[in-house]
This record gives sequence, structure tokens and C-alpha cells, in this order.
Amino acid sequence: MITQDQVSFFQENGFLVIGDYASGEDMAALRAEIQAIITEQGSAEQKVFTTDQQQQHLDEYFLESGDKIRCFFEEEAFDAKGTLKVPLQQAINKVGHALHDRHPEFERFSYQPALLEAALALGLRRPSIVQSQYIFKQAGIGGKVNAHIDSTFIYTQPPSCLGAWIALEEANAKNGCLYVIPGSQKMHPLSKRYVRNKEGTQTSFIELKKDRINWEFNPENPQWKAVEVPAGTLVLLHGELVHASPANRSSDTRQAYVLHLADLQCAWPTDNWLQRPPSDPFREMTNVIETLNRN
Ligand code: FE2
Repeated sequence: MITQDQVSFFQENGFLVIGDYASGEDMAALRAEIQAIITEQGSAEQKVFTTDQQQQHLDEYFLESGDKIRCFFEEEAFDAKGTLKVPLQQAINKVGHALHDRHPEFERFSYQPALLEAALALGLRRPSIVQSQYIFKQAGIGGKVNAHIDSTFIYTQPPSCLGAWIALEEANAKNGCLYVIPGSQKMHPLSKRYVRNKEGTQTSFIELKKDRINWEFNPENPQWKAVEVPAGTLVLLHGELVHASPANRSSDTRQAYVLHLADLQCAWPTDNWLQRPPSDPFREMTNVIETLNRN
């Protein structure tokens, strides 16, 4: 259960760190399952990242991933000819975006009563997990993530996105941990959203309003706070909190499992990049947890 003090901290700062969320056993299981997924799918999916019509294939591959488990590769994993420079297991940037609904082990881990309770306490009325990503932040080549807010990508009317970032390995300043600007959500920085075109073949950003935010990520600037956490920690992120992470130039991976929640009470626009087929809509957490408990 999260306390009223924790709710107040989140409202003030836009994030909340909850220690010992994932057990060692759970983390080992997720790490093993993701390796099995990569071994099974990785080689075939690698081709998408190296074909001639690269951009078109990449767009389709990405846009169709909302209800699937797909592997996305690191740019720096390929040489100029499009051949992998590193072993397959070290070439993946992330796996997404429906591990939570397509894989029993990830489903069990994702739909936890503690996460539902936290989402309710933070103001979501009908919480749903709309997206999951297993992020590797590979040793040496794990790329930088520029300053952004998650509501740009997970958009509802009104905004309701809540991020649940779970460290599966220690995250620190050396291996590319999260950096946040505490309190930045209060500046309402939702100035653009990420959408798909009518045909569902391309994505773009559309502007909602003019920006008042400096989006430059500079870990040396004291307004940016490093969120250094041990493995097993849950970091809850407000959808409008400005955050980023530097490249990982260390010799270790920095793996994390990241869920994005939204309130089903809010509208989900049909031009959001992330869509689910009508036959397989977003699931309400309460219902899924009840079903999992029954079985
Ligand atoms: Fe993010």
C-alpha cells in the first residue's frame, strides 16, 4: 500500500521511488523469459532493421506492435553493411509493446494488486496497462533517451498516463539511469503528441501548444536529478514529468521493465500511435487481477 505521504510526494515531484517491488525470483524469471523470446524471434525480426525499404518496414513493424511481442534493435548494433557487430542477445534495444497481455510470466508480474492500488491512489479511476517494454540499455551501445514526457506517446483526453519503471538491475549514473526534473509536471509540458496517419503507415508529432520548457537533457545541470536505484525498485512517473537517460557506456547492461498505465475512463483517440484491434481492447486491471486470482 502506498501512504498519503507518498501520494503527496508524487503530486509535488512527479515521481515516486518504491523499494523492493520485484523479488529476486521474479526478476530472474523475467530475465530468463526475455532471453527465450529473443532466441526464438530475434533473428527473423532483425531483417526488418536491415532491409532496403528500411523506414517503411520499420514504421509498419512499430505501428503493428501494440498487441504483440516484438524485438527492436540498437542502431549501434549494426555496421555500415547492416551486419550485426555484436551477438544477437546484445543487439536488442527493447522488446514491446504487449508483453503484459501476450506472455503468461509477464502478465502475472505486470498485473499486481500493489500496482493497481498505487494507480488508484494516484488518481486513475479505471487503470489499464496499455503498454509494456523490456528495455536492455545494452553495455557500451545502449543509446541515450532524449528529454520527453510519456503523455506525448501515451495520450488520453484528459491526460492520465502513469509510468511504472521497474529496475531489473541496479541503475546508476554510470550505466544510464533515469534522470528527472522534479516538479516539471506542474508546468504542464504536454505540448505535442505522437500520432499515426489515417492509413496507419506512418507516425508524426502534432503540436498542441507552444513550449515553455527547455528540452535539452544535461545531466550536469543541477535541475536534472539522477534516480539511482537498486534492482527490484519501482519508480512511478507522472505522465507529464520531464525525464531522460544518458547512453550506457559502462560494461554492464541496465535492464528495466516499463509499464505505462492509462485511465479507461478517459478517451483514447483513434490517431494515437498505439492502437489495439477491436477484438482485443485494453483490459481493466481490476478485471485481469480477479481472473488471474481465480485461475
Ligand atoms: Fe519515458
